[in-house]
Amino acid sequence: MKEKSKIGFGTAAIGRPLYINLKQNKEEEPFSLPAFKANGLEVLEDAYNKGIRFFDTSPGYGIAEELLVDWVHQKNDPSIVVSTKWGYTYVANFNPDATQHEVKEHSLNKLNEQWIFSKKLAPNLKIYQIHSATLDTGVLENEAVLRRLHELKIENGLIIGLTTTGSNQVEVLKKALKIEIDGEKLFQSYQCTFNVLDQSVAILKEALQELEGPFIIKEALANGRLIPNDNYSNYTNLYSFMKVLAEKHQVGIDAVALRYCMDYFLGATVLSGANNSEHMASNLKADTFMLSTSEVEQLSAFGISAEAYWQERKELAWN
Ligand SMILES: NC(=O)c1ccc[n+]([C@@H]2O[C@H](COP(=O)([O-])OP(=O)(O)OC[C@H]3O[C@@H](n4cnc5c(N)ncnc54)[C@H](OP(=O)(O)O)[C@@H]3O)[C@@H](O)[C@H]2O)c1
Repeated sequence: MKEKSKIGFGTAAIGRPLYINLKQNKEEEPFSLPAFKANGLEVLEDAYNKGIRFFDTSPGYGIAEELLVDWVHQKNDPSIVVSTKWGYTYVANFNPDATQHEVKEHSLNKLNEQWIFSKKLAPNLKIYQIHSATLDTGVLENEAVLRRLHELKIENGLIIGLTTTGSNQVEVLKKALKIEIDGEKLFQSYQCTFNVLDQSVAILKEALQELEGPFIIKEALANGRLIPNDNYSNYTNLYSFMKVLAEKHQVGIDAVALRYCMDYFLGATVLSGANNSEHMASNLKADTFMLSTSEVEQLSAFGISAEAYWQERKELAWN
């Protein structure tokens, strides 16, 4: 059996045809839902065959959660670990011209409604997260929601977590890390954006790694911005350095970006957001080497401010 990878598979790109990233190879063919589902299942199967046992999903990712429910039941493998979320509803109905893709609602009603479907991921479902917890929705002060999450934890043996996004990830994390129910920390797993460009959450490294559940890293490729492309001439020097490292370790630049996260946060689960087998194989090369401390430090020197990072991300289109 293949050794379990520290790379997890994030299912956003196999669940909905449009996603916020830099699509560098736009497909011209008209969208077909059956073909899209078949591709999603193929990528899941491929990830599994290549040793991935951690899968992240959400009801906000179109058909991803539904695909995963059927697929994990068919696999019937207790070593598969699934994390899902609540708080976003997918509303674009696979329409490539949709102007609204998702609706955010951090209410008790939405939690209860989405739980009814998500619980079908049991017994592989281990981590249940608030999807993009932010200060403005008040979710971290909503007693009824926090109590209900605690109840779900006890009743279902779950680890409760949350995901963060935006320039104030650290502020949200600091608040969440303090929340206790019945004398214990409610949130025992966090999923955050961390990559060569945005290293803001590193300030909480110790706290994030000493919890019961995994620290999960998303957007390790900065939604594609870390793959050399002409839109970001400001990163020319970074791209050149990553290319040197990629050649040295005989992998692609994507693997260097993923490996950076794995070597910075030892023990973290780093998500690959691949939507095809070729990208998956290339991403998984991150499992085949390690960066030296000096290489990690040199990459870290290319970090930018969280404000600049998220401003640039806002300018990325749904592709
Ligand atoms: N708020 C949240 O909770 C939240 C938010 C975002 C993400 N997530 C989770 O994190 C996962 C990963 O996020 P992500 O996919 O947005 O971020 P990402 O890994 O930073 O970016 C994926 C981008 O990298 C490109 N890419 C990957 N491998 C490549 C390769 N070998 N060659 C060229 N390009 C390559 C993809 O291109 P293509 O477009 O061509 O595939 C895509 O544009 C998601 O699936 C989801 O599970 C959670």
